[in-house]
Amino acid sequence: MSRVASPSAAAAPALASRAAASGAAPPVVELQQVKRVYYKPDGTVLVEALKGVSVAIRKGEYVAIMGSSGSGKSTMMNVLGCLDRPTSGKYLLDGQDCAVMNDEDLSRYRGRKIGFVFQAFNLIPELNIRENVEVPLFYQGVTPSERHRRAVESLSLVGLGDRLGHRPSELSGGQQQRTAIARALVTQPAVLMADEPTGNLDSTTGKAVLELFENLHRQGMTIIMVTHDPEIGRRAHRVIRLRDGLVESDVYNAHAIEPEA
Ligand SMILES: Nc1ncnc2c1ncn2[C@@H]1O[C@H](COP(=O)(O)OP(=O)(O)OP(=O)(O)O)[C@@H](O)[C@H]1O
Ligand SMILES: [Mg+2]
Repeated sequence: MSRVASPSAAAAPALASRAAASGAAPPVVELQQVKRVYYKPDGTVLVEALKGVSVAIRKGEYVAIMGSSGSGKSTMMNVLGCLDRPTSGKYLLDGQDCAVMNDEDLSRYRGRKIGFVFQAFNLIPELNIRENVEVPLFYQGVTPSERHRRAVESLSLVGLGDRLGHRPSELSGGQQQRTAIARALVTQPAVLMADEPTGNLDSTTGKAVLELFENLHRQGMTIIMVTHDPEIGRRAHRVIRLRDGLVESDVYNAHAIEPEA
C-alpha cells in the first residue's frame, strides 16, 4: 500500500499530518518547474531532458528516484546536487535560490549543504582514505588537526576506522563506496545525494552499503538516491518516478522506515 505524495484530495489529510509532525519545516530541496535542455553546438535543441519538474523534499525523507534509462534521473540529480544548473525554473536548496548565486558562491554553498556519492566512487588514487575524506574539509579551510579528527570520525562511522592508511586500490568496492560515503558525510551536510551508489557493486556488497544509508536515515539524515533497484524502491520512504523528463508518479511507501522527528 502506498499513498500519493503530490497534492490530491485522497492524500491531503496524510500530508497535512506529516507537515504538522515535521513542524512544517521548509523543504530541504525544492524544484519548481525545472527544465534542462541539452543543445547542439549550433544552438538547436538536442534533448529536453527535464520538461518541467516540480518536487519538494523535506528534512528526514529517504527518497528514491526511479525510471527507465534516459528518463532524466541523472540530469535531475545533477541539478539537485548543484553540479548543473536548470535551463529554466527554480531550484531552492535549504531555502536559498541557487539560480542567483555565481559559480563560486554556489560551489561553496553546495559544499556546506550537500554530500554527493557517485556510482564510480571518484576517490583520489594517490591519497589514502583518510586523506580522501579530508579533501572537502580542506576546501572549507578547516585546520589540519580538525580535518584529521573529523575524517577519522567519519570513517569510523562507516566501519573503516581500521583502514585509515589504505589507498582506494587496496580496498574492496564496498569499502571504496563506504569511503565515498564518509567523504560525503564529513562536512555534516543537510542532505546526502547518491546516483546509483550500488551500481558498481555486487549484490551482497551493495546490500551492506544500502544498510549504511538506511542507518543514516534512521539517525535523521535526508537521503535522495537514484536507483534502478526495485528493492530499494520498496524500502525507501518515498519513490519519485520519472518518465521522459517528467514526474510520472510520486508516492510514499506505507511500510517504509519513518524518519525520526
Ligand atoms: N550531456 C548531455 N548532452 C546531451 N544529452 C544528454 C546529456 N546528458 C544526458 N542527455 C540526454 O538526456 C536524457 C536524460 O539523460 P539522463 O542521463 O538524465 O538519464 P537517466 O535517467 O539518468 O538514465 P540512466 O538510467 O541510463 O542513467 C537522455 O535522453 C540523454 O541522452
Ligand atoms: Mg543516470
